[in-house]
Amino acid sequence: MPPNKHRGLKMLILALLSLSVIALLFIQTTTYSSNNKSVILDPQIKTTSSGSNPLEFMKSKLVLMVSHELSLSGGPLLLMELAFLLRAVGSDVVWITNQKPVQHDDVVLALEKKMLDKGVQVLPAKGEKAVDTALKADLVILNTAVAGKWLDAVLKEKVTVVLPKILWWIHEMRGHYFKVEYVKHLPFVAGAMIDSHVTAEYWKNRTRERLGIKMPETYVVHLGNSKELMQIAENSVVRRAHREHVRQSLGVRNDDILFAIINSVSRGKGQDLFLRSFHESLQLIQEKKLQMPSLHAVVVGSDINAQTKFEMELRKFVMEKKIQDRVHFVNKTLAVAPYLASIDVLVQNSQARGECFGRITIEAMAFRLPVLGTAAGGTMEIVVNKTTGLLHLVGKEGVTPLANNIVNLATHVERRLSMGKKGYERVKEMFLEHHMAHRIALVLKEVLQKGSHN
Ligand SMILES: *[C@@H]1O[C@H](CO)[C@@H](O)[C@H](O)[C@H]1NC(C)=O
Ligand SMILES: *[C@@H]1O[C@H](CO)[C@@H](O)[C@H](O)[C@H]1NC(C)=O
Ligand SMILES: *[C@@H]1O[C@H](CO)[C@@H](O)[C@H](O)[C@H]1NC(C)=O
Ligand SMILES: *[C@@H]1O[C@H](CO)[C@@H](O)[C@H](O)[C@H]1NC(C)=O
Repeated sequence: MPPNKHRGLKMLILALLSLSVIALLFIQTTTYSSNNKSVILDPQIKTTSSGSNPLEFMKSKLVLMVSHELSLSGGPLLLMELAFLLRAVGSDVVWITNQKPVQHDDVVLALEKKMLDKGVQVLPAKGEKAVDTALKADLVILNTAVAGKWLDAVLKEKVTVVLPKILWWIHEMRGHYFKVEYVKHLPFVAGAMIDSHVTAEYWKNRTRERLGIKMPETYVVHLGNSKELMQIAENSVVRRAHREHVRQSLGVRNDDILFAIINSVSRGKGQDLFLRSFHESLQLIQEKKLQMPSLHAVVVGSDINAQTKFEMELRKFVMEKKIQDRVHFVNKTLAVAPYLASIDVLVQNSQARGECFGRITIEAMAFRLPVLGTAAGGTMEIVVNKTTGLLHLVGKEGVTPLANNIVNLATHVERRLSMGKKGYERVKEMFLEHHMAHRIALVLKEVLQKGSHN
């Protein structure tokens, strides 16, 4: 291994292993450096963590959380984040996972350990204890539509007593979630909390038209970036270390321009159409004889073991078009920060109705990245067209517009940087953890009030 590669790797390992410690050290050093941004931003992190907490009123309230599963996917992780926010203000939090794998599962064990370490109590899904807790709880939070299956199965005839104190958090909008067996109790719970306006509208329409049921009081709560992510995003030293290491591992130069799509590889996320756009953009650049550093596409979220037909198609396309040296597949990972620190543009290419919210979009914006996104779903509520990124249509109609947008941002460095900066400012204004906590606090207050009237 060449010495500088070795160093990059060491930095990364250090950064990953003891991120918080390192971040703290770096924050202190940057305070005295000429990097003014971090100087200005650090006090803000402190005041929001030590200042008045909008969730303070949840102190010593008993909250039962019911998750349909425990995995590294967005839904369960988000509920865990809320569990920790509530623990931090002194709520009693009890967690139930409705569907657990029968055999030993490392992910489940690791996540349960993390919860126990933070004082979250973990209970079996069924049994007296679960029912008791539901009856005693000040608030029950059901996570995702599928978690509705737990209600009748476990609470049985007591379900009607619990419904008035349920807040139902919904993060999905695919057709198969609109099933009576999941959501028949939805009209009778205290409230529904949904991640974007467009998804809330969609649920209202679909429940009315398909199932003939009415949504309860529905609150839209946009998500926010965790403090951990913001600390990396705002630390130029850690960012640079990640950038150096990831670019080396991909074999791309420092000034090459990287467009990344960061989602599990699947047709709904539109990696196929993105690669077609990318190929088209390379052709455009060649035709117009534009002079610029090399363009690369990074597809983070690959899972070669799954052997999906879709991923095989993607790889075949890359071979056929002979763009193997320009397209990089990266395994699925939870640690997206190193990639966000290394790329120049995020592509959010979710198809059909788009993302319910699309957390990766606000994460990328925290790293001052412009976003090329489909004009669908939550992306429309995050990305401001022509200001923090550029939107294109979903489907085949979007392929050439996206190709043009890729060339556009590749050739206009200033535009790219200024869109990234505006995206970052937008995140600071509305997509931080404390914004989310504040919005959730308003919802929890109302739901508690309703629950106590019954
Ligand atoms: C840092 O910001 C302050 C005002 O916030 C400014 O007066 C100062 O010149 C800046 N320093 C550097 C090195 O940019
Ligand atoms: C909901 O239905 C109304 C009227 O049927 C329609 O105008 C609107 O576009 C629909 N919204 C969504 C998100 O499907
Ligand atoms: C990606 O995953 C595959 C299959 O699990 C594995 O063989 C490969 O080593 C992984 N690549 C990296 C860089 O970790
Ligand atoms: C975004 O802006 C581009 C460029 O003006 C425009 O062509 C496109 O229609 C806009 N898309 C949306 C969804 O507003």
